[in-house]
Amino acid sequence: MTDLETARLSRPSDTETPLLAVELIGICKQFPGVVANDGVNFELRCGEIHALLGGNGAGKTTLMNILCGWYEPDAGEIRLFSRPVRFHSPRDAIAAGIGMVHQHFMLVESFTVADNIILGQRSGILKEDEKRLHTRLKAVSNQYGLQIDPAAEVWHLSVGEQQRVEILKTIDRGAKILILDEPTAVLTPQEVEELLGVLRRLAEQGTSIIFISHKLNEVMAVCARVTVLRDGRTVGTVETKDCTERQLAQMMVGREVSLSRTQAPSQPGEPLLTLKNVWVESDRGIPALRGVNLTVHAGEIVGIAGVDGNGQRELEEAIASLRPLNQGKIMLNGTLAHIPSDRYGMGLLSDFSVAENSVLREIRKPPFNQHGFLNLQAILEYALQLVQQFNIRTPSVKIPAGKLSGGNAQRIVLGRELSQNHQVVLAAQPTRGLDISAIEYIHHQLIAQRHEGAAVLLISTELEEILRLSDRIAVLYEGKIVGIVDAHEADVHHLGLLMAGKVSCGS
Ligand SMILES: Nc1ncnc2c1ncn2[C@@H]1O[C@H](COP(=O)(O)OP(=O)(O)OP(=O)(O)O)[C@@H](O)[C@H]1O
Ligand SMILES: [Mg+2]
Repeated sequence: MTDLETARLSRPSDTETPLLAVELIGICKQFPGVVANDGVNFELRCGEIHALLGGNGAGKTTLMNILCGWYEPDAGEIRLFSRPVRFHSPRDAIAAGIGMVHQHFMLVESFTVADNIILGQRSGILKEDEKRLHTRLKAVSNQYGLQIDPAAEVWHLSVGEQQRVEILKTIDRGAKILILDEPTAVLTPQEVEELLGVLRRLAEQGTSIIFISHKLNEVMAVCARVTVLRDGRTVGTVETKDCTERQLAQMMVGREVSLSRTQAPSQPGEPLLTLKNVWVESDRGIPALRGVNLTVHAGEIVGIAGVDGNGQRELEEAIASLRPLNQGKIMLNGTLAHIPSDRYGMGLLSDFSVAENSVLREIRKPPFNQHGFLNLQAILEYALQLVQQFNIRTPSVKIPAGKLSGGNAQRIVLGRELSQNHQVVLAAQPTRGLDISAIEYIHHQLIAQRHEGAAVLLISTELEEILRLSDRIAVLYEGKIVGIVDAHEADVHHLGLLMAGKVSCGS
């Protein structure tokens, strides 16, 4: 017997080092002007759900893109199940058992679920295989609690269902290591619960999972350990059972953060935004808003609470004049700042520079436009000022906005919309995908707008955010306002019932 074998046999089992699925050692990755990963160390144990946490731009997505073969690191080593590997493409990583669910799904909408899953796996399937394939996929999805119909066409599916298809795809390709980049940012609370259940089952059956999320309650609920990144470096790895949400937040940001309600009661003034009996149709031609009446006064924040898909999107678009009304009236007393829920679709032009994006709405006005000529100097100066004021992490204002991390992209939109002193502020899901310090910052900005006399309408599926910021809360359910309550009298249980359509108050 060799020394090593003796040592192994004599080692008590409870101190045995756990098997490692992934080791990332000293990973470095630079982009022009940015060090995205600066010697990052990270370990994933077999069968563990491990959170990767960090502020916007900390380098999480970059690190995962390196692990799944999208980028090659400038330096550092990757080991899978204790063996060094080098990936030259995502294909190499998939072959090694790594599956990644990106935040922007990569499905072909006109194909069925089953066809999407086998796409790129084999050269094609024979007709008689289709039935077998469907049966097999059904069995696999049942095994993990992933309710999906293999025959459904993808364009019919909700976002949550599409995400399940992405997960099933990675399982079907034999992924032993699953990476999810902010999977819950796009889900309803019920879908989040379902997803966390699926992840637990996958882990129980041996899959090792890396979970990126800004939501600390989810991290605490489902992860055994957490690794925190800050500015491209590893701050540390802790066990969730040994720490609190507050400690995690502090590790991420490097200081105390406070997300408690601190503002004084509002002193509402005149009505600045009024909706009277507003009826609007969805893209599919079904009534999505059904007689909405609502008034927002100067100096108050009205929160629209509700489960996603109850007319929030249509309400936002109707107020922003992006969707026609079938009936009713919307009266705006002043100009509108719009922080859109779909930041890439409506908020930003990804191929345009940070500077261009920062003046998108003012591009025809002086000083940015003088006698029909763009004043580039003025645009650059203004953009630099926004970058500083809103703490946007970018190496230069000249790079395309699409290259920024998710949270930094949102800060550009916010800076652009809030720096012009509009009378009405429409903020739709303003903190989706943002880290805690960015959320704290944006909340302060919205409260500052209210303080300066703006009428703020906040549409958010985060009930906590609604409770923290609103003076009055209106609950939207199936296109109707089913209740309006004063925030300081709001009862979470009652709001939950309203949101689920179980009660209605005086409507
Ligand atoms: N392809 C790229 N080209 C240039 N810079 C990039 C590229 N990808 C990422 N970066 C930069 O690298 C840094 C890290 O970005 P990354 O997307 O990894 O952050 P993140 O931790 O995922 O942030 P978020 O929580 O906002 O998604 C950022 O400053 C970002 O602007
Ligand atoms: Mg990211």
